[in-house]
Amino acid sequence: MRFDPSGPLRGRVTVPADKSISHRAAIVAAMASEPVRIRGYLDAADTRSTLAAVAQLGAIVERRDHGLVIRGCGLRNAMAPGAPIDVGNAGTLMRLLPGWLAFQKGSSFELDGDDSIRRRPVDRIAEPLERMGARIDAHEGRFPPFTVHGARLTGIDYELPVASAQVKSCVLLAGLVTDATTVGEPVPSRDHTERMLSAAGAPIERVGDGCGFRTTVGNTDELELGEIQVPGDPSSAAFLIAAGVLVDDSRLVLERVGVNWTRAGFLRILERMGAIVLADLESPGSFGPVEPVADIDVRNAPIEATTVEAEEVPLAIDELPLVALLGCFAEGDTVVRGAAELRVKESDRIATVVDGLRGLGAEIEALPDGFVVTGTGRLRGGRLDAHGDHRLALLGAVAGLASEEGVEVVGMEAADVSYPGFARDVASVVG
Ligand code: S3P
Repeated sequence: MRFDPSGPLRGRVTVPADKSISHRAAIVAAMASEPVRIRGYLDAADTRSTLAAVAQLGAIVERRDHGLVIRGCGLRNAMAPGAPIDVGNAGTLMRLLPGWLAFQKGSSFELDGDDSIRRRPVDRIAEPLERMGARIDAHEGRFPPFTVHGARLTGIDYELPVASAQVKSCVLLAGLVTDATTVGEPVPSRDHTERMLSAAGAPIERVGDGCGFRTTVGNTDELELGEIQVPGDPSSAAFLIAAGVLVDDSRLVLERVGVNWTRAGFLRILERMGAIVLADLESPGSFGPVEPVADIDVRNAPIEATTVEAEEVPLAIDELPLVALLGCFAEGDTVVRGAAELRVKESDRIATVVDGLRGLGAEIEALPDGFVVTGTGRLRGGRLDAHGDHRLALLGAVAGLASEEGVEVVGMEAADVSYPGFARDVASVVG
């Protein structure tokens, strides 16, 4: 696909529904005892894999005009399917679902996925689940395909070795049937699981401050959710926000985007870079059953370089490729550190971002745990290989809009472009 240099982007856009919340909504609904209505469930390959997985486990998924209705199995009654569960390309599905499967006593569940998922580690969830009493057999001890053997679980107090919302969520889901399970995180990460479990009536307690939290769950008989409205995805909004900041004379309003503070790291980074992005953000440290939403108003303006340190990384993890792109146009050196986790995403996102942007004319160097970009105020353009990674494909698209010669994005065949209407949305706002 080609993305040519763009004229001003002007207008209002509704971005696709939040992918993280959609996965969680389907999984928690499948664990619930009463039907759950989900409005605005994301329609993308990853989230379709989650619907197929919960259906295989015995939940009934009904597609209605106003959204989905999922009739769950109840906490302890997932059915062992006759065939492996195919997670496709969805890392969040692969890492969250075992939290539920781990306490289906006496049943075993095999999970597998595409070539990219087979390179992504699962030992990070196997280790805490085994400490709780489940058994996990994984390829080479740490990769899919892997089998979760359900068991009676006991509570643990677990310090996350890496700040990962997926691992935290997996342990908290497993902890629902223990007396008490506590997860400590070195720095805060997205908390959609905690909010949704709290909305579903689970006893969730969180203590700590912006430097890290300890979250405890336990003793839950059943979950009941009623209805969920999935907000717009801040990580999808980020691509249009970056385009609005970079393309001359742009002014965009993105409607009803999730502004949970644990997802708003990119907006705070942009603020420091001097970008004009107005939104009523949630205050850092807030917690509750609600997912806040707001309109985001973006204008094109000159930007300055910034440094992103480790504690900010989980709050902007999926947007860091865009920070690299913005760095090309900012005055000074933009640095991202403490982000080694980028190397185990859908692609090695340090290598693919650095190679991809360098191929378009950027002055960018890789670090073991991040990158340094020297802003030149421009980007020539050319060809970018997405390596089957949807966020790389969209990075190339935005780069094309802001470039001098346009960008051709290749290597998208295997990508879950979870922002399927991106080209259409851009077309709708080109003035
Ligand atoms: C996600 C958490 C992040 C993020 C991923 C979605 C989630 O992964 O990169 O796209 O929904 O919990 P990690 O928890 O591995 O950092």
